[in-house]
Amino acid sequence: FFSRPWDFVTSVAEIHQLPETDKIEVAFAGRSNVGKSSLINALTGRKGLARTSNTPGRTQLLNFFTAPEATLTIVDMPGYGYAQAPRDLVDAWTDLVFAYLRGRPALRRVLLLVDSRHGLKKNDLEAMGILDKAAVNYQVVLTKADKIKPGALARLKDETAAQILRRPAAHPEIIATSSEKDWGIDELRAELAALVG
Ligand code: GTP
Ligand code: MG
Repeated sequence: FFSRPWDFVTSVAEIHQLPETDKIEVAFAGRSNVGKSSLINALTGRKGLARTSNTPGRTQLLNFFTAPEATLTIVDMPGYGYAQAPRDLVDAWTDLVFAYLRGRPALRRVLLLVDSRHGLKKNDLEAMGILDKAAVNYQVVLTKADKIKPGALARLKDETAAQILRRPAAHPEIIATSSEKDWGIDELRAELAALVG
C-alpha cells in the first residue's frame, strides 16, 4: 500500500479530536530531531508530507497520514527530550501523547526511533517503561544509519537488542534505516504491511 498516494488526514491537539477510524495505526515516537517525520516521508515516498526541520520540536501535534484503501494510518508524534532545562519525560512529552498511547484501540504498534549515533538514552528508556506499563507493542528503529560506520551500526544493533531483551512489550527485531539513503525502507514497509495483514 505504500505505492498509493499517501496524504495528510488531520492534526490533533486535544484527545477528544481523535478521528474515528477502522484502520490500524502505527505511531512514530522518539527523541526530538531523531528523524520521525523524515522516515514517514521516506516510507510514503512523499518528500514534503510530514514537516521536517533542523529545529528540534518541529512536530507539536499528532499528525495522521493515510492513503485511499490502505488499512494503515501513520501517526507522527511530537518528540520528547527537547528542553532547555532537564525535565522529566513526563513533563516534556505532552498529556496528549499519553492519552493517545493509553486509550487508542486502533494503535497496533509504536515505532520507537533511535538515532544511530546516540543509541538508547535515558528518556528512551523512560518511554519504553511507559509503553511496557501500558502494554503497547513497540519496535526500535535506528535512524540516520548513514551517519555511522557499518561496523559501529552492527554493534549498536546487537547492544540495543540486548537492552530490550527483557522488556515485555518490545518487539525483538531492530531495523536500521537511513531516510537520506533509503536504507531499510523496504524492510520497514514489509514489516508494516505484515502488521496490518
Ligand atoms: P521533531 O518533529 O522535531 O521531533 O523531529 P523529527 O524526529 O521529526 O526529525 P526530522 O524528520 O524533522 O529530522 C530532523 C533532522 O534530521 C533534519 O535535519 C533531517 O534532514 C535530518 N535527518 C533525518 N533523517 C535522516 C537520515 O536518515 N540521515 C541523515 N543524515 N539526516 C537525517
Ligand atoms: Mg517531526
